[in-house]
Amino acid sequence: MTKRVYIETVGCQMNVLDSELIVSGLVQAGYELVDSPRNADTILYNTCSVRQHAEDKIYSALGRLRPLKERKPQTIIGVLGCMAQKDQDLIFRRAGHVDLVVGPGQLNRLPAILEEVAAQQHREPRLEVSLDRMKERRTLVEESFARFDPPRPRELRSSPFQAMVRIMFGCDKFCTYCIVPKVRGPEQSRPAAEIVAEVRRLADDGCLEVTLLGQTVNSYKDPGEGRILRLADLLARLNEIDGLRRIKFVTNYPRHMTDDLLQAVRDLPKVSPYLHVPVQSGSNEQLKRMKRGYTVESYCEMIQRTRSIVPDAAITSDFIVGFCGETDDDFQKSLDLVRWARFKNSFIFKYSQRPGTKAADAMPDDVPDEVKRRRNNELLAVQNTISLEDNLPLAGREVEVLVEGPSKAARKRASGQHVPAVDDEVVQLVGRSVRDHIVVFDGPRTLVGQILPVRIEKADAFTLFGRL
Ligand code: 5AD
Ligand code: SF4
Repeated sequence: MTKRVYIETVGCQMNVLDSELIVSGLVQAGYELVDSPRNADTILYNTCSVRQHAEDKIYSALGRLRPLKERKPQTIIGVLGCMAQKDQDLIFRRAGHVDLVVGPGQLNRLPAILEEVAAQQHREPRLEVSLDRMKERRTLVEESFARFDPPRPRELRSSPFQAMVRIMFGCDKFCTYCIVPKVRGPEQSRPAAEIVAEVRRLADDGCLEVTLLGQTVNSYKDPGEGRILRLADLLARLNEIDGLRRIKFVTNYPRHMTDDLLQAVRDLPKVSPYLHVPVQSGSNEQLKRMKRGYTVESYCEMIQRTRSIVPDAAITSDFIVGFCGETDDDFQKSLDLVRWARFKNSFIFKYSQRPGTKAADAMPDDVPDEVKRRRNNELLAVQNTISLEDNLPLAGREVEVLVEGPSKAARKRASGQHVPAVDDEVVQLVGRSVRDHIVVFDGPRTLVGQILPVRIEKADAFTLFGRL
């Protein structure tokens, strides 16, 4: 009997990658992937803990599964990833119909764990998580966060032309608001040789673009080869790989934006001039409370240095609004910074208190939600104006686009039709430039997976519209 698995993923690209690896492993173990919990005998949630909202979504999805579990008690329900590591057996208490809770450090054993759970006569709640880094020795904790980067065949990747590749996991920064160091464990880099081999295999398989992932990707450090290899060295090696066309990397930590890295971005033709370097706040008081380890002045110096070494770089950022103690004056400084830095875009989040972080222990969450929302909208409006101003002059210019597939609108239209899609039918396609601009244009589906010049005709704050 084939086993049918349904998986839902929330959170960052790291989670999207984990889910892709999980599915790939399960399909190789004989599972079939289905698109609704109703058709599945194994239902998995790969979860995120970075904000409360992401957790609420999972708990309510679990609640909705209760009747299904009563009807079909053999169904296996699993909670994976960051919330599993953070809440552990609390999940069984809040949702008694969950069968297994598996942290990010145990995903390598998921197929075996599922098999054991399925074979049990009387099911016991199964908890598989890593050690608590506050309580145990670092080496033991590191070991308990096992590596999870198995090879995946082309047909099991979400796109044959693009792939995410983890180069490091965990985080040692302990920003006071952030749960990541706790749930993803200590910072550990993958050996460069292993990454190069993985990317070479991907390129041989037809992959054109890789995105290197790490919580603080530019603190990458492989001590393995007699000489410490940093991100700039790794990029130089990946740049040599035949067939590969583009290399992107996220997320950067501002203090590690070294000149050698910026020079690598400038000099290596395959490395995209796209840099996501979250600042979080434009106020020094707030940065200190967040324990970010830099000042607004040093962040601005880094931006200036970036622009002078890589003049055409697209720089993007993250902001948290309404963090503990944020005054109107602090918030004005975030507005000022956005206006000064002219980010390509910014992701803006309302502060969400996370139990288990320093901020939750020591600082009151004292900005009312209404104020957080207002600041969020205001900062977003300023950023969107800048994004639009910077996009408008692109009209008339040509950009190289990696064609990813039919746009959302085209996919929706196709799903409403009863005739199967024809390859040479012209549809609305979407792709990305090296600066991570989303580009929409018309063309046949056969162009998917090609890198093509597109002439931009018009733009809004988020999208460029063009013609082949
Ligand atoms: N509340 C709100 N936003 C947060 N982020 C991280 N932790 C929190 C939190 N507790 C944001 C940061 C980070 C992004 C991935 O999520 O801006 O860069
Ligand atoms: Fe969280 Fe800070 Fe680490 Fe980023 S650098 S994952 S915000 S602790």
